[in-house]
Amino acid sequence: MYKVGILRAGPRRGLHICQPARFIQRLSSPELRSRFVDYFEKQGHTRVKSASLIPHNDKSLLFTNAGMVPFKEYFMKPDTAPYSAATSVQKCMRAGGKHNDLDNVGYTPRHHTFFEMLGNFSFGGYGKQEAIALSWRFLLEELELPLSRLRVTVLENDEEGYQLWKKQGLPDEKIVRCGMEDNFWSMGDGEGPCGPCTEIFWDTMDDSLDERWLEIWNLVFMENYRTADGKLTKLPTPCIDTGMGLERMASVLQDKRNNFQIDQFRHLIGGLRQVLKSKNVAVSSSDDPTAHEKIIADHFRAMCFLISDGVVPSNIGRGYVLRRIIRRALRSAHQVGMNEPFLTELYPHLLEGFVDGSYPELASRASSICNVVANEEATFLTTLNRGLSLLNNVFTHPDHQKSKTIPPDVAFQLYDTFGFPFDLTLIIAQEKGWTVDMKEWRNMNILPQFTGYNHDLLHQESQIVAIEATKKGKKTDVTLSIDPCPFYGLGGGQIPDSGSLTLANGSQWHVLDVFQPYEGGIALRVAPADGAKNIDRKLEQDKEFLEAGQLVQTSVDLEKRTGAEVHHTATHLLNAGLRAILKTDIVQAGSTVEPNKLRFDFTYGKPLTPSQLDAIERWINDASKAGGATNVQHMKLTDAVESGAIAAFSEKYGEMVRVIEVPGVSRELCGGTHVDDVRRLYPFKILNETSVAAGTRRIEAVAGLACIEWYKKTYEPVPDILKMLRASSTKDAAAKLEKSMQQTRDIQKRLDLVTEKLATAGEVIVHPIETQLENNTKVPVRVHLIDSDLDAGFMQKRANVLKETQAGYAHVLLSKNTIVVAVNTSKIQDHTANSILRHVLKSVKGGGGGQAEYAQGRLAEAVSDMDGIESKIIPALKARA
Ligand code: ALA
Repeated sequence: MYKVGILRAGPRRGLHICQPARFIQRLSSPELRSRFVDYFEKQGHTRVKSASLIPHNDKSLLFTNAGMVPFKEYFMKPDTAPYSAATSVQKCMRAGGKHNDLDNVGYTPRHHTFFEMLGNFSFGGYGKQEAIALSWRFLLEELELPLSRLRVTVLENDEEGYQLWKKQGLPDEKIVRCGMEDNFWSMGDGEGPCGPCTEIFWDTMDDSLDERWLEIWNLVFMENYRTADGKLTKLPTPCIDTGMGLERMASVLQDKRNNFQIDQFRHLIGGLRQVLKSKNVAVSSSDDPTAHEKIIADHFRAMCFLISDGVVPSNIGRGYVLRRIIRRALRSAHQVGMNEPFLTELYPHLLEGFVDGSYPELASRASSICNVVANEEATFLTTLNRGLSLLNNVFTHPDHQKSKTIPPDVAFQLYDTFGFPFDLTLIIAQEKGWTVDMKEWRNMNILPQFTGYNHDLLHQESQIVAIEATKKGKKTDVTLSIDPCPFYGLGGGQIPDSGSLTLANGSQWHVLDVFQPYEGGIALRVAPADGAKNIDRKLEQDKEFLEAGQLVQTSVDLEKRTGAEVHHTATHLLNAGLRAILKTDIVQAGSTVEPNKLRFDFTYGKPLTPSQLDAIERWINDASKAGGATNVQHMKLTDAVESGAIAAFSEKYGEMVRVIEVPGVSRELCGGTHVDDVRRLYPFKILNETSVAAGTRRIEAVAGLACIEWYKKTYEPVPDILKMLRASSTKDAAAKLEKSMQQTRDIQKRLDLVTEKLATAGEVIVHPIETQLENNTKVPVRVHLIDSDLDAGFMQKRANVLKETQAGYAHVLLSKNTIVVAVNTSKIQDHTANSILRHVLKSVKGGGGGQAEYAQGRLAEAVSDMDGIESKIIPALKARA
């Protein structure tokens, strides 16, 4: 919703015969609200009250940013919806995430942070045809808008949508086809329902406007679901989601050139001018409010609605967006010359815009809303002037005037001491045509606030405060710092978080590593999520959005983080359990905490016994089964140590420390992230205990879900094993296996015996042949062919037996490629086993060698029968030396 100008270049044929503006029905904002929901109620829709600006149970969104957000679940499971069709006027905020209009407010006629969205929805009830017909009838019959000033867009390949509009009587030239960029809608960048859309545009007939064609209604055909990895799947049942911006439609019906001239803003900006005048501030009298007036009015509405839904200014998440909105409004007020608190005086004028009581919380929570606004205003005003005068010194200093650059230390001081959100410094600089030197930010030792202890803040809006791209050979390394930062990388053995950052242009970067570049700093090493090899090109594409001052949406990998937390707390319990069971003050020598295991090194002189390990495991399992919250306390180091908290000697601690306590179980100094209840560590299992160095032992263990996974993986093959062993249980299997191993041992023993016997038996398998060497000293040789099933061990044994029992002969044994020669040197003096083997190898290809009594070789070609002996070996033996 809210794209403008895409029809500017389109054909204007037939649009000259326009109905003059004066024939258009005039409706106030309250009238428009009720007309819309009344109409859809009459058409069978259930009227549903606006949900909170804080999405319920949806961590992927900072704020409710469209009418469909409260119904998100129903699009995925229409049968769980209490009604098949609904209509609402929903409070929306677009100041963060994919739909972020904050920077445009004041400078365009239409952008808001807070706005209202009129919508009708079908959860598996009516479809495209009915949705188009209903909207068309509302515009033409209820609002009586002239057909001549309307036209529509459809997704380029949505033939059905195109034909449905034709059926409504729209000629071809009034149906414009557009690409995915314009006509495919999704709520955010991540997971969620989405689909092609058709948009209805209004001809303002005002060519002086940048956006003569104004988008007034977006009809989304919710047909798809985008999975976390970006894949588009089909929803089980197609649904309908439509959204019409109330302020825009009111500007049409009240014939105003911009949203800030409609009734609600007339009250608010009229009130603002009155308040300013009463403080002697000069005000404009133009119908079209100034940019500063627009900013103050828009931001005031947004801050009040945010506070009414429970958001309070802070340095993180939604609270930080609220703080930025309030401070930007105050800075605009300062620009027009208003230097004292005034915001709460606008409150009655805000209420005037909502006299129909559509948001009763505005009246019922008026005093708390005004209190929060007044407090934040007072805090900021005390530093605003000092901050601005600091900036003025820079603007007027000749050293800086040449480069027109605000030095990093000034920008840092503004942020750190004066509470200037970065974007505020940037706006002020930009208005003057200056820039801020952000490159040097790293040297400023920015200390981002780590917000990742709280899982609610793992998905939040944050701001880039420093970025650096360094070339490492051909590779470019990109590191940046964001503030606030929910990514853990503070060490203590705990593996750093990973996840992603989504830039304001929708581009995603993976967070690969988190580390401390200096004490208190947190740096993220990032790479394009689309896997782009050419990082430089990607950097160039995202340049505008990947720089200090820009907003990003963080997403910390929750599964990895949760796994690490389970094992981190388990490490604390192991540390305590070891002391309890071993009854000695062990010293932690190191630890590694991963999502699916832990490793803990500690000083201990000897291996732990199985019963000690068993007792430690039981101690931890008992403690986790019993459950108990992990408390976090901040206290002085001396107090912590005195209270018995375990401290690691290798760590350097500041004066104030963080203590993690599981009452009655463990108390340890730690900066890491932990489970909120030790119940999550159950079950716990020690996998092994080993030595890492003299006097240092190592325990590896698994806990919680990872432990269950470990058991699953370890025991997965068990059924197969039972089947193979025909065993009824693992106990039975163990007995059967033991029996089978005993049998194998027995068989081996018998086999050895048989081999021995065979070797000493007579000529059972061998085939002796007598021959003599034809050299000077003849020697009787017997050649034996050994059964090829018998191994070399047998040949050796046989050779030794022959050497003793037929000592007067030299013996040549052959089996396939093996040749063995044995000579009893007490009986044969002129020849050795080795010399005979070498003699044979002169004529037969092969190799080998040995000693006087025994030699062994390998033949290149096997000799497996008598023929081979007669044709190869005997001639070789007989050959002359
Ligand atoms: N959800 C759609 C939008 O916000 C209607 O534009």
